[in-house]
Amino acid sequence: CAVRHYNFKVVMKNTRKLCSSKPIVTVNGRFPGQTLYAREDDTVLVRVVNHVKYNVSIHWHGIRQLRTGWADGPAYITQCPIQPGQSYLYNFTVTGQRGTLLWHAHILWLRATVHGGIVILPKLGVPYPFPAPHKEVVVVLGEWWKSDTEAVINEAIKSGSAPNVSDAHTINGHPGPISNCASQGGFTLPVQAGKTYMLRLINAALNEELFFKIAGHKLTVVEVDATYVKPFKTDTVLIAPGQTTNVLVSADQSSGKYLVAASPFMDAPIPVDNRTATATVSYAGTLSSAQTTLTIPPPQNATAVANKFTNSLRSLNSKKFPAAVPKNVDHNLFFTVGLGINRCPSCKAGNGTRVVASINNVTFVMPTTALLQAHFFKQKGVFTTDFPANPPHVFNYTGTPPANLATTKGTKVYRLAYNSTVQLVMQDTGIVSPENHPIHLHGFNFFAVGRGIGNYNPKTDPKKFNLVDPVERNTIGVPTGGWVAIRFRADNPGVWFMHCHLEIHTTWGLKMAFLVDNGKGPNQSLLPPPGDLPKC
Ligand code: C2O
Repeated sequence: CAVRHYNFKVVMKNTRKLCSSKPIVTVNGRFPGQTLYAREDDTVLVRVVNHVKYNVSIHWHGIRQLRTGWADGPAYITQCPIQPGQSYLYNFTVTGQRGTLLWHAHILWLRATVHGGIVILPKLGVPYPFPAPHKEVVVVLGEWWKSDTEAVINEAIKSGSAPNVSDAHTINGHPGPISNCASQGGFTLPVQAGKTYMLRLINAALNEELFFKIAGHKLTVVEVDATYVKPFKTDTVLIAPGQTTNVLVSADQSSGKYLVAASPFMDAPIPVDNRTATATVSYAGTLSSAQTTLTIPPPQNATAVANKFTNSLRSLNSKKFPAAVPKNVDHNLFFTVGLGINRCPSCKAGNGTRVVASINNVTFVMPTTALLQAHFFKQKGVFTTDFPANPPHVFNYTGTPPANLATTKGTKVYRLAYNSTVQLVMQDTGIVSPENHPIHLHGFNFFAVGRGIGNYNPKTDPKKFNLVDPVERNTIGVPTGGWVAIRFRADNPGVWFMHCHLEIHTTWGLKMAFLVDNGKGPNQSLLPPPGDLPKC
């Protein structure tokens, strides 16, 4: 196996979008950032040097980081941030994974502009479990604010109310040919008739789940979150922030230009925004003056389209890629996830209240030293291990909530024995409004064994769980007014963050961490920290 070296210089770069310019934080001056390439089982060394005025950390989203939690990246969870003028060498091995993932900044809202793709190729000589495409293309979906995103979030934190929504969505950095700055053009994918292309779709947007479509072309889904799935054809892909999806596209038209559209999915009863990012698939030999064939994206509240896509996902579960679903359960957990309202006398904009988010009614408080350090060096007083296994208030989660469900605050973790198995049911609540929450678990892949609308029923619902070929992933949508059940094996010692990947919900406190103990056998302990681990 090879060692791959990367240099990530975090620098400001003046960038022009939507016909206006602003300085943004970037890696090596690019938006989106460069793609990181590796092969299954390679070791990756990324030297990150911080040349900006902000604290920085980078997360390799979906990389398992077996025993190397020090390289995971979430600030104050696995490391203190890299301070201005400092550097840190992320050192990890890509064990038993291949596919598309993403890297992104993991502190405040810096990931708005600090992100890029990760492509892990199969081991040399090992083919894909589907016909090899003619070409592969990384397609990063994002969001763009005309104003400074750190200012946007700091203002929202101060006022206690919701931040301004973005001004555009982007496809490989561009709002596209149908935006209010069409003169800046957009991303074009050149194709040859008769060939097949693999798009490695990545949703790097801060706060929006997206539908993705190409006029006149079907998409064959072959992989999500760097795990192979049973291939299926669809017109529309649903992709949440933090998720990745590989699709095959056959260029089966003879010529012409076809619109690509990425539009938001949001079925919560809250304000809509319908900013669609566009790009173009252009057949070789098509005149530049040719009309583009358009496509109509699904409406923003197209729950049926979203459900159809989600329900089509199954693990490939082949001989080579079996689905290792835990059949027994050691920890049976039930977490409510959702938004709430707390009193905040200093919050003028919120009339003395502020929006908060919580899991099992706990609004997570970021510590000032990294949890993993506190755990490893047995430093007291940084976190407690009393994260509740069940909600403190039992009520009709999807009906009218009782009054006064103010959240408690704390830096609480849930402790798991090494190699124990976990079933976690996550239930959306409608305390403020029901809403889809794409929940991301660091350090693991999990199996999505069940999903439903309404209140989870612990007696009847588990009977319907799919323990044969459920889709395996690292980020999953808890449906609006519904629940999802996941299973995983706690075979990775360390401290692992779990949070909503809608960044505003994370800011509001929709996050917690699992602490997985060391095992007793060889190679079952967290490795010691590297010498250059940043200090707080
Ligand atoms: Cu993609 Cu904790 O993040």
